[in-house]
Amino acid sequence: MMSDIKEVLIRDEEIQAKVKELAGQINRDYRDKDLVLVGVLNGAFVFLSDLMRNLDIPCTVDFVSWSSYGKDTSSSGVFRIMKDLETNVESKHVLVVEDIIDTGLTLHYLLDTIRARKPASVRVAALLDKPSRRRIEAKADYLGFQIPDAFVVGYGLDFAQRYRNLPFIGILKPDIYAGRGTPPDEVG
Ligand code: IMP
Ligand code: MG
Repeated sequence: MMSDIKEVLIRDEEIQAKVKELAGQINRDYRDKDLVLVGVLNGAFVFLSDLMRNLDIPCTVDFVSWSSYGKDTSSSGVFRIMKDLETNVESKHVLVVEDIIDTGLTLHYLLDTIRARKPASVRVAALLDKPSRRRIEAKADYLGFQIPDAFVVGYGLDFAQRYRNLPFIGILKPDIYAGRGTPPDEVG
């Protein structure tokens, strides 16, 4: 698996330190609030599990799975919910937890959907952000790292469902996805 990685972009220890820092901010901001963490499957489950273990406030956790029909044609925003929330988020404080904000389309439409359910507030925690790729407004209130426009894997992020188990964030060697177009990950 390591031989498929061109470069380690963010080391395990750097991620863990950043997760603790973000959790510290969330602990302060949500003290005495009814917090629901909403993980976006599949990519966010590793970040979410580390983040929530660093929270010392009461919270619940739920997941959504959200799919777009083809990244390059999805400016119209054709999204489909594969798995919806089980929690009624009305009047609750929602924190959406994402692995990475790329074009911003996933997050933008997911936030629209959640806001329509009248939560008390909605914010976003994202581990990674590739701002140069943005096609629609989307931003994280709690951000781990800004990264350059490279396809990354590890710490929950995949290519063709693999590499999620790497403990660091690494840049995948381009010849791994050569011939398969831009490395897409339409589901999670
Ligand atoms: P967006 O809708 O373009 O912002 O895409 C967000 C989703 O695309 C993320 O939740 C990831 O699943 C996936 N994605 C975007 N960039 C990468 C990457 O570099 N590696 C792995 N998955 C990615
Ligand atoms: Mg994803």
